[in-house]
Amino acid sequence: MKLMVINGPNLNMLGIREPAHYGRETYQDLIAKIEAHAKILGVEVTCLQSNHEGDLVDFIQSAYGTHDGIVINPGAYTHTSIAILDAAKSVSLPLVEVHISKVEEREDFRQVSYIRLAAMKTITGHGTDGYPEAMDLLVAHLKGGVPS
Ligand code: DQA
Repeated sequence: MKLMVINGPNLNMLGIREPAHYGRETYQDLIAKIEAHAKILGVEVTCLQSNHEGDLVDFIQSAYGTHDGIVINPGAYTHTSIAILDAAKSVSLPLVEVHISKVEEREDFRQVSYIRLAAMKTITGHGTDGYPEAMDLLVAHLKGGVPS
């Protein structure tokens, strides 16, 4: 089983950007956490990050036929990108949306999520632990038990 974990703009700045919202862990810490969790689950994982919308579309398309599920935090593109939603709908892979911060308690412009329309589940406000949680959900789903 192979999962793809995609992070969007500014998530490479974790540990530096707005620690009150995103904590002190760096992007490298996040990748180490995801890779360690993949080992525990016995799955392969590909971690990708870009600040560019089209790259995120390309990453999602590249998962088609190569990966079994996607964890994605599209960053600010969550709230604007129909192209990323369309890519997710195109590949039709099980997908979990993750946000490190509690987006529902933040600005009005963060209350819209396009990617949510293609997500089997959304995890918000669990910090970087949301990523291993999303991986657990995908693996459970792919193995046949579908947690809601
Ligand atoms: C975020 C929330 C978004 O609103 C923001 O633009 C981000 C990060 C999160 O992980 O909480 O870049 O997706």
